[in-house]
Amino acid sequence: MRKALNILLAGAVLAALGGCGGEPPPASARPADTPAAAGGSAGAVAEVSSGEATFKKACVLCHKNGEGGAPKLGDKENWAPRIAQGIDTLHDHSIKGYTGASGVMPPKGGNMSLADEDVKAAVDYMVSQAQ
Ligand code: HEC
Repeated sequence: MRKALNILLAGAVLAALGGCGGEPPPASARPADTPAAAGGSAGAVAEVSSGEATFKKACVLCHKNGEGGAPKLGDKENWAPRIAQGIDTLHDHSIKGYTGASGVMPPKGGNMSLADEDVKAAVDYMVSQAQ
């Protein structure tokens, strides 16, 4: 009985190892996944994920109507002194957040999952609309 069990167990372990180490599952899983996910949409998403898209997703809430003292999109008077600080300061304030004279700008507009580059692009978009 014991011997038979051991042989069965050994066989099961070998089979499991063989199954795990086998190349077909991972190798075939990847090509099937990536082209569909990355090739299909990533290019399009990267194009759309411009400053304007990020603005509409994460900044529009406050910056469209000046919620909480935020400078409105296209409000040249409000933006002029901000732009005068330099784009680096604006990028910095948007990524790290800051408290100014009119309100609180939360880091990344409160959307911490945004990439720094996307936040910067959104700032560039807002600045371009105020010039
Ligand atoms: C919860 C509201 C809110 C959201 C969301 C928000 N902002 Fe702001 N933002 C503010 C407020 C309020 C100010 C003005 C603070 C002040 O100057 O007193 C501000 C100011 C700014 C400024 C001017 C900085 C300066 O130095 O004058 C920039 C640039 C900016 N926000 C970018 C962004 C970007 C980019 C996003 C989206 C990723 C965003 N904000 C989302 C509230 C918000």
